[in-house]
Amino acid sequence: MSNSQVNRIEFYLCPLSGHYTPFYADNFQSAGGDSAGISFTDDLNLTGTHVGCDTSQCGACVIHLNGIAVKSCSMLAVQANKSSITTIEGLAEDNKLHPVQEAFKENHGLQCGFCTPGMIMAAVDLINRKPILNEKIVREELEGNLCRCTGYQNIVKSILAAAEKVQA
Ligand code: FES
Ligand code: FES
Repeated sequence: MSNSQVNRIEFYLCPLSGHYTPFYADNFQSAGGDSAGISFTDDLNLTGTHVGCDTSQCGACVIHLNGIAVKSCSMLAVQANKSSITTIEGLAEDNKLHPVQEAFKENHGLQCGFCTPGMIMAAVDLINRKPILNEKIVREELEGNLCRCTGYQNIVKSILAAAEKVQA
């Protein structure tokens, strides 16, 4: 199993701490630590998913749960039980960036990069749902993702460029 994609995640309830502890389902190797919510950094050593607000407002923490973009900060670990989770680390394949990652790179869609993993995960889901996009739709759909560097112009440009590539 790739370290960047948690193909299936299972949790058990520790009777002593009362917390859910994640295990990799495939090899049943403890990922370590207890977690009431999902902490990719602490529990799974995946550092790409950022936590900005921790209150479901900024979108920095977006991951895919069964292929759908969700804000992981507001999700309990147990809600992900037996689900397929993909973080930003799982997008690239065979050392080749995902078209959305490539488009962000080509169109200067990031500045400090803090919002970028969440933006990209949300954008991939958006393009999967609505391959034909325009600027208005992108801006409306990504209203739950905030960029503190205010780089929205190039973020939108990147997503439109990626949608075009995916469509081609
Ligand atoms: S950290 Fe989850 S929405 Fe801000
Ligand atoms: S690039 Fe800095 S927060 Fe978006």
